[in-house]
Amino acid sequence: MAKTTPPLAFLIFLLFDLSCFSSLTCAATDDSVYESFLQCLENNTNPQDQISTLVYSQTNASYTSVLRAYIRNARMNTSTTPKPVIILTPKQISHVQAAVICTKKVGYQLKIRSGGHDYEGISYISDVPFFVLDMFNLRSIDIDVKNESAWVHSGATLGEVYYRIWEKSKAHGFPAGICPTVGVGGHFSGGGYGNMLRKYGLAVDNVLDAQIVDVNGKLLDRKAMGEDLFWAIRGGGGGSFGVIISYKISLVPVPETVTVFRVERTLDENATDIVFKWQFVAPKTDNGLFMRMLLQPVTSKKNKTEKTIRASIVALYLGNADTLVSLLGKEFPELGLKKENCNETSWIQSVIWWANYDIGTSPEVLLDRDLDSANFLKRKSDYVQTPISKDKLNLIWQRMIELGKTGLVFNPYGGRMSEIPATDAPFPHRAGNLFKVQYSVNWEDAGSTAEIEYLTQARKLYSYMTPFVSKNPRSAFLNYRDLDIGVMEAGKNSYEEGSVYGYKYFNGNFDRLVKVKTAVDPENFFRNEQSIPTLPTKA
Ligand SMILES: Cc1cc2nc3c(=O)[nH]c(=O)nc-3n(C[C@H](O)[C@H](O)[C@H](O)COP(=O)(O)OP(=O)(O)OC[C@H]3O[C@@H](n4cnc5c(N)ncnc54)[C@H](O)[C@@H]3O)c2cc1C
Ligand SMILES: *[C@@H]1O[C@H](CO)[C@@H](O)[C@H](O)[C@H]1NC(C)=O
Ligand SMILES: *[C@@H]1O[C@H](CO)[C@@H](O)[C@H](O)[C@H]1NC(C)=O
Ligand SMILES: *[C@@H]1O[C@H](CO)[C@@H](O)[C@H](O)[C@H]1NC(C)=O
Ligand SMILES: *[C@@H]1O[C@H](CO)[C@@H](O)[C@H](O)[C@H]1NC(C)=O
Ligand SMILES: *[C@@H]1O[C@H](CO)[C@@H](O)[C@H](O)[C@H]1NC(C)=O
Ligand SMILES: *[C@@H]1O[C@H](CO)[C@@H](O)[C@H](O)[C@H]1NC(C)=O
Ligand SMILES: *[C@@H]1O[C@H](CO)[C@@H](O)[C@H](O)[C@H]1NC(C)=O
Repeated sequence: MAKTTPPLAFLIFLLFDLSCFSSLTCAATDDSVYESFLQCLENNTNPQDQISTLVYSQTNASYTSVLRAYIRNARMNTSTTPKPVIILTPKQISHVQAAVICTKKVGYQLKIRSGGHDYEGISYISDVPFFVLDMFNLRSIDIDVKNESAWVHSGATLGEVYYRIWEKSKAHGFPAGICPTVGVGGHFSGGGYGNMLRKYGLAVDNVLDAQIVDVNGKLLDRKAMGEDLFWAIRGGGGGSFGVIISYKISLVPVPETVTVFRVERTLDENATDIVFKWQFVAPKTDNGLFMRMLLQPVTSKKNKTEKTIRASIVALYLGNADTLVSLLGKEFPELGLKKENCNETSWIQSVIWWANYDIGTSPEVLLDRDLDSANFLKRKSDYVQTPISKDKLNLIWQRMIELGKTGLVFNPYGGRMSEIPATDAPFPHRAGNLFKVQYSVNWEDAGSTAEIEYLTQARKLYSYMTPFVSKNPRSAFLNYRDLDIGVMEAGKNSYEEGSVYGYKYFNGNFDRLVKVKTAVDPENFFRNEQSIPTLPTKA
């Protein structure tokens, strides 16, 4: 108990005052916290920075719009959703340093938000009183075409990264996620992937350097932080080790012409044969070809009272349509791909197409942050290591139709992903994995009845899939955050609890992450519902 310092006592006091946690009814306590936090920030920044203009308390008229701007799951946008006591919006690194020092001083939890796309919203909600450090102002991107590299700040979006690369070079791209509003901070630190992963691996496989503010408020680059911490923040999860300011990335070459296509088949159009064969082709074909498979229960076109499964293959090929059609004619004749199914275009236009805009749309759409807009959604993940038979696929279709709305997305691995050793970065799902499954359900109706229904059906489908997916551990993808697979109880730092989700997300790399965590943040200041715990101290 010797470690119980005044800040912790203060936190415990606040925990009893639950009204402070999620409402505006405890202004007195919040006022005093706000005052001492602000004074500490002022003491730790330059007067000309006017740090107070970057701090939003719950009584501020702009608080709600600042909070909502980067809420990306409407499930976390209700009156009972826990709200931060303070939101701080740093404009410079020194503000981040002050935020860490001062949040620690007043004894609050600090949640870090970049793009806000965490599927469980843990960048802006918490189970204890907390502040949000909102990184959206720290978004600059410096491209160095000559060196084929770039520094990207964590508050930048992927769309901005792609746009800024395209502005400087039509021959380069970057292998990260598909949705342009996803933030660099969470995406890279969680091991982000996109439609070039079979050619170039994950975003973190192409990171050269990084800047982080540690628990003492120190700014560290790769050299200063050392190889262990640098390894950890390439997939070990933002929010366990410090505040990531920026990553230096290595740009990758992209050809002048790429090809995209989307082909859809329902069960009466041989969808089962195609999905079955896809499992053998998609993870093994040319590294330049990424064929995502989407599976969705839909109403049959021929008989409106009947349900079917629609299988959609959405693809990017780093080459021209003739080569692609001839390649798939040999490897995947069941698909019957024709040149008229294909669209040849530039890499940047393929990014736009994958983001659901028409080819030809101006690349400026990639800069649209689309603030304060979200569906209700739930995601889960799995890895498939042996092909699923046609009989079993048919059973899965039946179950999906019974459940009604939850879809599956199969993302093929192989290629470069199988060449990179599983210990190279915290992300462990390399050779031996055919594809990743995402369970995906979106809904529009607010309220707990709908929420319970859809969460339940996603969980039922996940349970149904048990025999077909990885075991011991049943692996999961950190960026598809899923609190169903285990959580750290509020305020705790339990190695046992942490190892439940930790081994699923990181397999054998979890142990090294725990060692790094214990070395760089022994008091566990940087914590969240699924953060890396420190090593248990032997009594
Ligand atoms: C619509 C949509 C599409 C997606 N598509 C893809 C995809 O194609 N590929 C893919 O891999 N993933 C995808 N994801 C998942 C996405 O990569 C993760 O949710 C990612 O964590 C989002 O990063 P963010 O900065 O937007 O999120 P945030 O919610 O801001 O952060 C996520 C986590 O990282 C922490 N964090 C954020 N910034 C920092 C920082 N600067 N320093 C330390 N910790 C930080 C947060 O505290 C939180 O724990 C998608 C998600 C959505 C909602
Ligand atoms: C800020 O600095 C002033 C003057 O040095 C000092 O009196 C005060 O205690 C400091 N406050 C905080 C919160 O650090
Ligand atoms: C709200 O907070 C912002 C940022 O600190 C500040 O600029 C603004 O004046 C505040 N508005 C009100 C009404 O207090
Ligand atoms: C580009 O890279 C080379 C070799 O790595 C290095 O010597 C040079 O300083 C770099 N230039 C810039 C502007 O970073
Ligand atoms: C389905 O497969 C059969 C037999 O191989 C074939 O004759 C038929 O044309 C296919 N249907 C579609 C829509 O591809
Ligand atoms: C449509 O499907 C339903 C349910 O499978 C079936 O009962 C009905 O006979 C079908 N109608 C036609 C016209 O095929
Ligand atoms: C190719 O893109 C153009 C422009 O968006 C569109 O009109 C056309 O339908 C697309 N073709 C295919 C096969 O998708
Ligand atoms: C949050 O809810 C409000 C209405 O209560 C709505 O106006 C806003 O668009 C919603 N934002 C998100 C991100 O869901």
